[in-house]
Amino acid sequence: MSKQYNISVIPGDGTGPEVVEEGLKILNAVAEKSNFSLNFRHYNIGGDHYLKTGEILPDSVVESLAESDAIYIGAIGHPDVKPGILEKGLLLNLRALLDQYINLRPVKLYEGVDTPLKNKKPEDIDFVIVRENTEGLYAGAGGCLKRGTIDEVAVQESINTRKGVERCIRYAFEYCQKRNKEKKLTLCAKTNVLTYASDLWERTFYLVAKEYPDIETDYAHVDAICMWMVKNPEWFDVIVTDNMFGDIITDLAAMIQGGLGIAAGGNINPDGISMFEPIGGSAPKYTGKQVINPIAAILAAQMMFETLGEPQAASWIEQGVIKVLRDDLKDVAAGRMGYTTGEVGDLVKAYIEGL
Ligand code: IPM
Ligand code: MN
Repeated sequence: MSKQYNISVIPGDGTGPEVVEEGLKILNAVAEKSNFSLNFRHYNIGGDHYLKTGEILPDSVVESLAESDAIYIGAIGHPDVKPGILEKGLLLNLRALLDQYINLRPVKLYEGVDTPLKNKKPEDIDFVIVRENTEGLYAGAGGCLKRGTIDEVAVQESINTRKGVERCIRYAFEYCQKRNKEKKLTLCAKTNVLTYASDLWERTFYLVAKEYPDIETDYAHVDAICMWMVKNPEWFDVIVTDNMFGDIITDLAAMIQGGLGIAAGGNINPDGISMFEPIGGSAPKYTGKQVINPIAAILAAQMMFETLGEPQAASWIEQGVIKVLRDDLKDVAAGRMGYTTGEVGDLVKAYIEGL
């Protein structure tokens, strides 16, 4: 019997279902050409489901997701739900429960895509950010005292464990080695101020580095990395950083590669179930309008195949995306592509079928 992958699909809120539909179109087209089959199971969780039932992430759903081979998610975020509820209750909870301790975000300027950086070309913008995905300020440690009074105190602590930091850094070294490009890994932290947390990161980084003598190491403070990413993005190959810094610098990075319409990410548990997503939000104002760019969701599908160990399938998807970005789309921004969301999916699909 041929190989079968069970993929959990969470279309989610806003424009999530529209872009997921295009992603599924591509996943199916690729499976047709491959020696494996895909079995999808849809989960109707997100803002609408929460408003109707009060349920965010039932245990039964988590158990069922944990039995699949990978998770494909559109977007979470609803205008009628207070910010933080779905983000924490669904997305961050899933990352933590499934121990997806890496957030992998490739930053690549494809030919035909405009970058806001003057004079920078595709060969200048091609790096990967490895963000720690379960600890730091996202661990939810802290509390408040006398809330709402003039004496109130709010504390939010960054949790950095030796184990959590080390496994993230080790993953980044391994990834950098496999990527086999500049073989350069940059640690992004703030050693001049975060003298406890960044100290642990720095010591662990140079300790693990000894096991990878072929990888060049570099360090940049997080504020400086924002500056260099704009001025000299060609300096970077792989960057490793903590959860909060990673959240911030990956939005900056998404902009220099052309915007959220084409930026994808993977929440990875190297020994478990990983979850792939376009990194843009649910864009409620565009819902149902067929104007949103599905390329980010399609590239998330590419990352999924890469992680499942199907490099040929991943490469077909990337070839399709490269072709459509270079030859077809007028712009990558929502509403300016020259095509509808569905038509962009069709273009990528037709190209892949002809490969
Ligand atoms: C991201 C998002 C999330 C994060 C939000 C929605 C909780 O910004 O995936 O980068 O902060 O990690
Ligand atoms: Mn973010």
